[in-house]
Order: sequence, then structure tokens, then C-alpha cells
Amino acid sequence: TGFDLVVTNGIVVTASEVLSLGIEIGIKDGQISCLGTSLTRSPHTHIIDAKGGIVTPGGVDSHVHFAQDNSPTGDNFTTGSRSAIAGGTTTVLAFASQLKTEESVLPCIQNYHTRAKDLSYCDYSFHLILTNPTPKIMSEEMPLLIKQGITSVKLYMTYEPMKLGDSQLLDVLMAARALGFTTMVHAENSDIISLITNRLEAKNHTTPYFHAISRPQIAENEATYRIISLAELTDTPILIVHMSSEIAMKHVRKAQTRMLPIHAETCPQYLFLLSERLKGTEQDDFAGAKCVCSPPLRHDPNDLEAMWRGVANGTFSTFSSDHAPSTYDHAGGKKLGVKDGVMRYRNIPNGVPGVETRLPLLFSFAGSKPDSRLGLPRFVQITSSDPAKLYGLEGVKGNIAPGYDADLVIWYPDNHFPGTGLQIEQRNLHHAVDYTPYEGMRVRNWPRITVLRGEVKWDRENGGLKGTAKDGQFIKRSLGRIVVGRTGGEARGMMEGERGFWS
Ligand code: URP
Ligand code: ZN
Ligand code: ZN
Ligand code: ZN
Repeated sequence: TGFDLVVTNGIVVTASEVLSLGIEIGIKDGQISCLGTSLTRSPHTHIIDAKGGIVTPGGVDSHVHFAQDNSPTGDNFTTGSRSAIAGGTTTVLAFASQLKTEESVLPCIQNYHTRAKDLSYCDYSFHLILTNPTPKIMSEEMPLLIKQGITSVKLYMTYEPMKLGDSQLLDVLMAARALGFTTMVHAENSDIISLITNRLEAKNHTTPYFHAISRPQIAENEATYRIISLAELTDTPILIVHMSSEIAMKHVRKAQTRMLPIHAETCPQYLFLLSERLKGTEQDDFAGAKCVCSPPLRHDPNDLEAMWRGVANGTFSTFSSDHAPSTYDHAGGKKLGVKDGVMRYRNIPNGVPGVETRLPLLFSFAGSKPDSRLGLPRFVQITSSDPAKLYGLEGVKGNIAPGYDADLVIWYPDNHFPGTGLQIEQRNLHHAVDYTPYEGMRVRNWPRITVLRGEVKWDRENGGLKGTAKDGQFIKRSLGRIVVGRTGGEARGMMEGERGFWS
């Protein structure tokens, strides 16, 4: 007996504490078995010397797109998950997408299992994208999926092949209320976007910059308020994904202040990038295509500031990458749609890569440096602990405590990288696409070691990736837990007791 692994000489950080140097982590059978000082070593105990660096739980990236049919030149599970591990993320939640014509979602889930099994470096689970929530799927198949550990769905209010109308959104919310699964929503008003897109096309405004013009904040604002209203009516928790603008975020904050169970997510691109990136460069007219994502990058630096505030003050419960990459310079990739030297933004696959850079980008602004935006526990909470709780991984992922999986990131000590830090470069990343939107940006730190269930899978100074694509396991999830607000209150805007007649 004795520990398989002891991590020593690090500053252990959880969502609630920064523990003092000297607290060691004892690991056995892939799980954390205790924290303490001077843990007993046996002859079989491996030691990791954290060298005065910070130790955080492995990242939980609750929003990635791997091996989806609609991104043929993006990442599959193997390339996406190795990129995750090299950036300190040990668990990803990817999407399994129902086609509108599919009357059962069970084969679809099996299909995505096949795409991931024995092909992932990190642990994974799936959210189901529901594009056609029939009564049979909601009442018969969702309970089965929940038993199989798939406890969340994503709904789209935009994109022609995916979008649901209000009555379908309500059907899913009523089912979520009955069954307890977590409902993620892509909130943009589809008709606003179509109207503008058609008018832009008629005027030949088709370059990538017009992608942002075609999806104004008012489209996000309206859809955000609408889905919050539907959630309030049905008294059901929701999570609004990839929020980009202050005007829409304010609805979330207001709802939370009223103790409604409204959660939200933002992503690195909405903290660091502006729509000017959609304009080409001197060297390449089409380079703006690299930064096409939805919701689009915003025009106003105040929106970046607002998203930072939402990260710091708790409005956002999860900070995910929305890693949805497509190769830039490749047929079928982001240059898709260049004809006769003209690029049509309508044909550019949406989404940016970011699973590997998510943690280092935010970590650069965590701690107590003069320009820090959030404390280290808040960093852990929003990148790991709260996404784990929201999506049913509490007790398994997202914490450094006895009984949890021994998923850890060991960072360098502060000031290990002198001056302005470490430069992000595409050539050092592990995804399968040919660019990063963060090229040349500097970060203060990078995961030195990533540990997955007690084993070192990334060791930056000793050869990099250590694991294989057989390491990752499918993680069966429980029902998610609400981390802000509460249910059970009588929604305002309805007469007292009114809902009692029908709900
Ligand atoms: O632009 C994005 N985010 N594409 C990925 C699909 C989605 O809506 O999350
Ligand atoms: Zn050994
Ligand atoms: Zn989306
Ligand atoms: Zn996405």
C-alpha cells in the first residue's frame, strides 16, 4: 500500500483556498486520497516536485467541438484532446449533434462514442445538440441518455439547420424541468441575422468583416432576454453559452439578482479579440476569416471589459473555449468560399481554435499581480470547479480533495518567465489546424505538467506529450447542479399563484 504519487512543494489552489506551501497531495489508484504535510512515502511512491509552482485542478473545458460533421477540417478527438492536455485541460465536454431528419438520437450518440473511444488523450463526455426535439425523444430517449451519463443538451436559436422556434424551446424546457438535465442555449435572433445578411449580399458586402455587421448585439440581446423569459416562465435553469456583449450579459446579471437560475458562459475570444480582427492584413486580404465565430467578435473595447467583469464578479459560471476550429489554408477550410478573389463570409465555417490556450490566457490575469483581474480561487472555479458542478461531475472532477480524480496542472512559479512572459505561437500548439488567433500574444505562465488520473500526460520540459490517445475515458455524468440562484420562487411577471393552474 502507500501512495502511488505524491505532489510536493507546490501551492495548491482550489475554488475556495490557496493552501500554504508545504501541503502535499497524496494520490492512489488515480484518485486524490489525502492532502497533508510530510506524507509518508513507500518504495513505490513517485514524487513530483512542483518546485514552488501553483497546483490547480485539471481544466474542465465544457464547450468544445471535436469531430463534428459540420467542421470537416477541424480537430478530431485525438488532435483536439492532445491540444487540451498540453494546455492543462483534462476533461472536455464535446457535442454530439442530431440531424433534423433523425427521429432517434440514440444512434447519434453511439456514432459520437465511436468517434471518441480509444481516440482521446483526455477524459470526455458529450452534450446532445437537439435540432428536432420530438415528444418521443424528450419523454423516452432523454431518460435513457441520462442513465447513460449524458445529462445536458444544447439548443440553437439561430443557424437554419439547427434552430428551434419558441414552442420547441418551451418543449425542451418543460422536459428539462421534469428530468433535470442541463439546457445550454445559443442565443442569437435568427431572423435579424437573415435580414441583414440578405441586404449585405445584395450590396456585395461579403468580406469577413461583414460577418460581425450581420450579427449585431441586438440579435444577441433579444434572444438572451427571450430565453431567460422562457426559463422564468417554466421555472427551469438554463445556461447561455458564449456570451459576447454587455447589453446581453446585463439580462443575465439582472435575472441572477432576482435569484433566477440563469447561468452563462463566456470564452477567451470575447475577452481578448475585437472585430477589427475580421479585416484582412496587408499580406492577406482574407485573413479575417480566421476570426469568424458566432456570436461575432465585437467592435467596442467596452464589451471586452464587460466580459472581464462578468468573469470576475460571478455573472459567468463557466469559461470555455468553444474550440470550433477549421483549417485556414485548405479546401473546405476557412478560405472556403473564395471565388474570383472575393470571399463570402456566409461560407466561412464559424468558430476559432482555443482549447490549448484557454487556461494560460486567463491564468495570466489571475493572482495578485498589479494587472490581475481575478483571484486564483476564482480562476479555478470558473475554469474547472463550476463547469464540473454544472454538468454533473461534482465529486469526480474540478477539485483537489479526497475522492476526486487526480487531475492536476502544475504551473511554474510566478516570474519563471522573465519580462513579458511567453509568446503564443502556432508552431508550439497541438491542434490540427494551421493558425491560432492569439499568435504573438504573451502569457505569463504555461502548464509545466498535466496529470490525468494520477499519471503525467504532459511534461513541458521532458518531451511534451506523454500520453496516448487511449488514455481518455468517457465519463458518465450525474445531473448537473445549479451554482447560482435557485428555483422554486414564483416568477415575477405572473399573477400570484397563476402558474399553479398549469405547471
Ligand atoms: O462560431 C461558433 N461558435 N461556432 C461553433 C458552433 C457554436 O455555435 O458553438
Ligand atoms: Zn513505480
Ligand atoms: Zn453556439
Ligand atoms: Zn460552440
